[in-house]
Amino acid sequence: AFYPALATLAAYLIGSLSFAVLVSRLMGLSDPRTYGSKNPGATNVLRSGNKAAAVITLLLDAFKGWLPVVLVQAYGERFGLGAGTVALVGFAAFLGHLFPVFFRFQGGKGVATAAGVILAFNPWLGLASLATWLIIAVFFRYSSLASIVTAVFAPAYYLLGADVAWDAPGAMVLGLAAMAVLLVWRHAENINRLIAGTESKLGSKKK
Ligand code: G3P
Repeated sequence: AFYPALATLAAYLIGSLSFAVLVSRLMGLSDPRTYGSKNPGATNVLRSGNKAAAVITLLLDAFKGWLPVVLVQAYGERFGLGAGTVALVGFAAFLGHLFPVFFRFQGGKGVATAAGVILAFNPWLGLASLATWLIIAVFFRYSSLASIVTAVFAPAYYLLGADVAWDAPGAMVLGLAAMAVLLVWRHAENINRLIAGTESKLGSKKK
């Protein structure tokens, strides 16, 4: 159990890099934990008005979910690591984003990191999820709503694909479902605002 534990710990540590905070700091912007939704995530960094910072945050937060998964997929076999560890490192990176050891365990909601994990799990699943997010974001203009719906659909897409196109190991399904549960839970305030009609739309600046 040494290699799975080591890989999981490394994934958790890289997941703990809160790029919304780090990128904002490096680009001389205010800390995203002080304005808007106060969430250290790309959506909230966008409320600073700096699109480049938001895009860089999105890409880096996704990258930290993608990397551990593809590394275990590519080199895991040499160390006896299988699908279980692939799923586990993805989940660990996601958990690191939610509860970052470097930021007093006060992290984000996991959308970008889950996207990176999902894309690494399976590119078609990634594409279907991205399309789902975009359609909802374009029609309703709520990042949170798009994220919540996509997170719930992802395990279903993966299971559907398993009938026609790929194997869906139980560990991967479990990983996707666990991420969806935590992601929805982290959006509790967004859900309340969506119901109350006070959620901020994509493109509106910080208040
Ligand atoms: O990236 C998280 C998104 O779904 C919601 O973010 O800042 O609107 O709470 P925010």
